[in-house]
Amino acid sequence: MAIRGFMTLPRHIVEGEKLHPGATGELSNILLQLGLAAKLISLEVNKAGLADILGFTGSENVHGEQVKKLDMFAHDTLIKAMDHGGHFCVMASEEEEDIIHLPAHHQTGKYVLLFDPLDGSSNIDANISIGTIFSIYKRITPGTGPGSLEDCLQPGYKQEVAGYIVYGSSTIFVYTASHGVHGFTLDPAFGEFILSHENIRIPKSGRIYSINEGNYFSWPNGLKHYIKYIQSNYFEGKPYQARYVGSMVADLHRTLLYGGIYMYPGDRRNSKGKIRLVYECNPMAFIIENAGGRATDGNERILDKKPESLHERCPIFIGSEGDVLLVEKFMRGEKIDKN
Ligand code: AHG
Ligand code: MN
Ligand code: MN
Repeated sequence: MAIRGFMTLPRHIVEGEKLHPGATGELSNILLQLGLAAKLISLEVNKAGLADILGFTGSENVHGEQVKKLDMFAHDTLIKAMDHGGHFCVMASEEEEDIIHLPAHHQTGKYVLLFDPLDGSSNIDANISIGTIFSIYKRITPGTGPGSLEDCLQPGYKQEVAGYIVYGSSTIFVYTASHGVHGFTLDPAFGEFILSHENIRIPKSGRIYSINEGNYFSWPNGLKHYIKYIQSNYFEGKPYQARYVGSMVADLHRTLLYGGIYMYPGDRRNSKGKIRLVYECNPMAFIIENAGGRATDGNERILDKKPESLHERCPIFIGSEGDVLLVEKFMRGEKIDKN
């Protein structure tokens, strides 16, 4: 990896802040703490098999899924890393049913933190990439005391910062504060995130589709037609390639870099699909849009949706603009010219 003038994550954050004369430094501090939490989770993920941390805790999360120990480790680590800086008034995690209040002895601040501590956790035991997703808003309730559920249920376009960490063949921290999407690779030798992907722009169209095709027979007809269309036509000499990791973070990291589309539609069994609006769809949509891509529920922009509850699910079509526009046409039943 070329070390670009030793542009570490902390240095990038501090230099980015200088571009905003009115900035208080709070968001920089938050990102620095998130970087620390990411390193701790990355270490634990990497030694998963060694530390007897694999396996189930025996409890279920609010979605009725079995929770693995690493999920809870990541959840606890994020809370511990973020609850004492005085920046947040409330937090919420995919692994906890209700909003998380900050301990009374810590100061509260004007920001709200929402996170999926470990995404793709069904992949842990198979040593397949997993990730962490985070999203930061400003509080909307008045005052300086504890925040409320209302602060956590804002439409995604109001995000101040969103990011993810993918624990893959290397650990990469990707974030945007609306001034470009930047990626930093963790150098395990000196334990620092180094700028490796500056100002990422997603290709305008791609040739990779990513969807759980096992659900094919439950999909809406428009989507079935779209998949058959990209499989049976040639695009620059080839049909589309299928890639599906089953960790949204990993599938979307690839989509961001190579282009194409990731989909988790509503289907006959689950009309809203599986992906959570607050913890997964909104931060990923914010990142992809900031990189020049598009994210909708097949009809409406994800970032315009007003969440009704913390754990609600939402169909998602996200990735290169051209690909998302095309699947939307199919979903609306529009006639498509054969190429
Ligand atoms: P999580 O591990 O946080 O519950 O999220 C898993 C999500 C997402 O990461 C992934 O794309 C999707 O579930 C996979 O679902 P299927 O197994 O239904 O394809
Ligand atoms: Mn998830
Ligand atoms: Mn999760």
